[in-house]
Amino acid sequence: MQYLSYFKFPRVLEIGVDNGQTTLPLCHNMSLLDRQWLYEGVDIRMKANVPAAIASMATIFCPATEPNIPVHPNVIFYEINSLNFLQDAIKNKIKYNLILIDGDHNYFTVQKELELAERIALPSTLIVCDDYNTRWANEDLYYAESNGYEKNKLATPRQKTSKVGVKAAVDEFVQNSNGKWGLTTGLGNEPDYCILYQKETVLDMNVHIPPDTSAVFMASLEVYFDTNQCPEVNENLLKHLDYKYERPGPRPNKQGAKYIIGGDVRHEQENYNG
Ligand SMILES: C[S@@+](CC[C@H](N)C(=O)[O-])C[C@H]1O[C@@H](n2cnc3c(N)ncnc32)[C@H](O)[C@@H]1O
Repeated sequence: MQYLSYFKFPRVLEIGVDNGQTTLPLCHNMSLLDRQWLYEGVDIRMKANVPAAIASMATIFCPATEPNIPVHPNVIFYEINSLNFLQDAIKNKIKYNLILIDGDHNYFTVQKELELAERIALPSTLIVCDDYNTRWANEDLYYAESNGYEKNKLATPRQKTSKVGVKAAVDEFVQNSNGKWGLTTGLGNEPDYCILYQKETVLDMNVHIPPDTSAVFMASLEVYFDTNQCPEVNENLLKHLDYKYERPGPRPNKQGAKYIIGGDVRHEQENYNG
């Protein structure tokens, strides 16, 4: 989120929406940036619960469920194969600040997705590839062969390839870029994803863990750019979205308030000023 706040109008593409485990927090966080933003999600099987959850969120607008609201859309879902979507985006000269690749987990698809994704990237664009370190890193999964996809006409059928797995496709992309793209693993001890960045434009990266947090997903990845090379990056727009703890429940009054935790009634100290 901190990275996305560099942009006047952040634009994100997620390949593979599924149940929206990424979509929902991502869209919520983008709405906190107080500016125009757009998230586009692509899946060969769009589940209705995700647009429904988005539609319930105040200040986040999805034209599929709220067609008559006269504001710019924030969230658009497409039921389409990622390879077709990416080809259309290239034709329409669309660029994204962040591209999340988490669709079909096989060498054939990821290799093609990366080849196309590079063409819709700006100099500062980051590409996040999921399953770089899990089972499908070294094995091929084709959703066309998964339960529930038997009749899915959008799914890619198994292809004959010389390599298998997501990791091989990502490593090959980085290697073939002749030093243009760099790879860093995600946050945490055994992250399942990796982040691709452009070496010429990224000066440094730092993982900031806000105080009083233990979960790694609370950390922010700070990315520092050579702004001469990326006119789209505006450091004045940078916004920190650190988790801030605020004491829940009623505030203490002058007489000393009571509050209840797990059925216990506790008395505030009179001089409590938290
Ligand atoms: C692992 S799930 C995505 C999880 C999601 N990104 C999250 O964070 O919760 C993979 C999704 O990719 C979709 N998918 C598979 N092949 C695809 C393709 N070629 N294009 C678009 N979506 C695809 C599947 O239908 C599935 O919903």
